[in-house]
Amino acid sequence: MIALPLLFALLARFTFTAAVPANESGLIFGYFFAFSADDGDAATFTNEDDGEYAIQWGENSGHFIGGAGWTPGSPQSISYSTFSPVGNSWFSIYGWTTDPLVEYRILEENFGGVDPTVGLTSKGSLTSDGSVYDIYEAQIVDGVSPVGTSNFTQYWSIRQSPVNAGIPTVTTQNHFTAWAAAGMPLGTFGYQIVATEQVGGASTATNAGSLSVLVRTRPAGFCAIEYAQCGGEGFTGPNCCVSNTTCVQNNQFFSQCLAD
Ligand SMILES: *[C@@H]1O[C@H](CO)[C@@H](O)[C@H](O)[C@H]1NC(C)=O
Ligand SMILES: *[C@@H]1O[C@H](CO)[C@@H](O)[C@H](O)[C@H]1NC(C)=O
Ligand SMILES: *[C@@H]1O[C@H](CO)[C@@H](O)[C@H](O)[C@H]1NC(C)=O
Repeated sequence: MIALPLLFALLARFTFTAAVPANESGLIFGYFFAFSADDGDAATFTNEDDGEYAIQWGENSGHFIGGAGWTPGSPQSISYSTFSPVGNSWFSIYGWTTDPLVEYRILEENFGGVDPTVGLTSKGSLTSDGSVYDIYEAQIVDGVSPVGTSNFTQYWSIRQSPVNAGIPTVTTQNHFTAWAAAGMPLGTFGYQIVATEQVGGASTATNAGSLSVLVRTRPAGFCAIEYAQCGGEGFTGPNCCVSNTTCVQNNQFFSQCLAD
């Protein structure tokens, strides 16, 4: 016999879906989402319930990257679940900083085995969350970045033993500290997403595939952003609001962070 609130919680999952056009980003359920794709028809990104998204792609879809997370990012612990991976893709904690301009990945899973280390420079390793991660760096010339075509640096941590099950946690601060010690400092955080990306370029044959991802928990101390839900019966997200916003009760089921 399942308790009623739990039953409703189970039924409530997978009820919300909203497709996101290529190269769009925004906020939903207090999460930031971003999806960029070379070919808007070849891959589909769908926001689902609170912190969950799904990506599906066809053969030879070209490059895409999409995910759910936060803006700005921060040195937080992030948990995730992945469901039913098919086809080749990389699954990572992915983000950007400015000053210096850095694109970073903590690569958790490499579905399909396209080698991410080609062209990267080894910078040592660290141990975090039950695995050794290898650290790499790369210089990107005239690459696509959130501030337009730029030269920037890529930082990588690549997990040697993917978890593949359960609810893994990524303690991002361990990576940021190890990177800094290897001469790879971060700047001011831009967005940070739990990302799925297709790694074959347009010229590379890639399998069709799909991946569903649930960004499981918000870290302790994480507060909802403006307009996001911050309370209500059955709500399990953060009950605090970011600076200069206050949690305002709308009704029994919904409170929202509104500007002071
Ligand atoms: C998305 O942006 C990228 C990079 O600017 C561009 O190459 C690509 O054509 C865009 N995709 C679509 C579907 O417009
Ligand atoms: C990137 O660096 C190259 C030389 O290393 C330079 O020619 C190019 O203009 C730079 N690109 C940008 C966007 O500054
Ligand atoms: C909050 O408001 C104060 C005063 O207007 C401002 O100085 C500060 O930068 C704001 N903080 C954020 C996070 O927006």
